[in-house]
Amino acid sequence: MVFRTSLFLSLAALFIAGAQSTTVFFTNKCSYTVWPATLTGGGAPQLPTTGFELPSGESSTLEVPPNWTSGRIWGRTGCTTDSTTGKFSCLTGDCASGQIECNGAGGIPPATLLEFTLNGNSNGIDFYDVSLVDGFNLPVSVQPLGNYSCNATSCAGDVNGVCLPELSVTGPDGSVVACKSACLALNQPQYCCSGEYNAPEKCPPTGYSKLFKAQCPQAYSYAYDDGSSTFTCPTGDNYLVMFCP
Ligand SMILES: *[C@@H]1O[C@H](CO)[C@@H](O)[C@H](O)[C@H]1NC(C)=O
Ligand SMILES: *[C@@H]1O[C@H](CO)[C@@H](O)[C@H](O)[C@H]1NC(C)=O
Ligand SMILES: *[C@@H]1O[C@H](CO)[C@@H](O)[C@H](O)[C@H]1NC(C)=O
Repeated sequence: MVFRTSLFLSLAALFIAGAQSTTVFFTNKCSYTVWPATLTGGGAPQLPTTGFELPSGESSTLEVPPNWTSGRIWGRTGCTTDSTTGKFSCLTGDCASGQIECNGAGGIPPATLLEFTLNGNSNGIDFYDVSLVDGFNLPVSVQPLGNYSCNATSCAGDVNGVCLPELSVTGPDGSVVACKSACLALNQPQYCCSGEYNAPEKCPPTGYSKLFKAQCPQAYSYAYDDGSSTFTCPTGDNYLVMFCP
């Protein structure tokens, strides 16, 4: 009887506590280490971790409190700590904090972004997407866990491998480590959907954004790519973020 009561109470507590909190699981299937980073939206407090190291083949979890409503996650690559200054920095996705934790700083583009709106900010529906609006650095997927009706989304293609020279970011060895969007690289209104192009019907895809879309059909390839790039799931699911899915 005592057992039943405490079991009931702990199940009830679990249910109440779990009603709107979210766990994000991370797995790194890349052959290299990734340093995931998080940024909370809307000036709200940051998550318990804003950056950590995730070696190849390893997994990690991040508890997102029930009152967290929006933000982004991205992966940083090629990170090192300078032996002289002690400053931490990354080849791609760096947040320029000088530390593994980003502490509220965003990633310097280009970086593949996962954007989340969770926990009832939108009437009980979570929104999530993969965005290449500022560019790409590594393949990422996000998979809702628990409700099989909710769809995963990803940018699994190798955008670096097809990146045009005028968009490419190269590493010390000359290889392409990230690919800028046309908006980021060329800063023209037809690519950024600004000025006279500042509306969905006035800003069609371009040759540049179509190259991104061909590699990653589910990801935002430019600002008004909503139709095929926004995903939803009823609030309450947890999520698996995978690098190099
Ligand atoms: C969420 O609640 C925690 C604990 O009460 C608090 O420290 C944090 O600032 C809150 N976060 C937001 C985004 O309001
Ligand atoms: C699962 O997701 C679908 C699609 O959004 C929704 O209609 C359904 O109610 C969800 N099921 C549960 C158990 O939340
Ligand atoms: C998942 O994708 C399928 C096929 O595109 C679609 O029919 C379904 O509505 C999607 N589910 C949700 C929850 O968006």
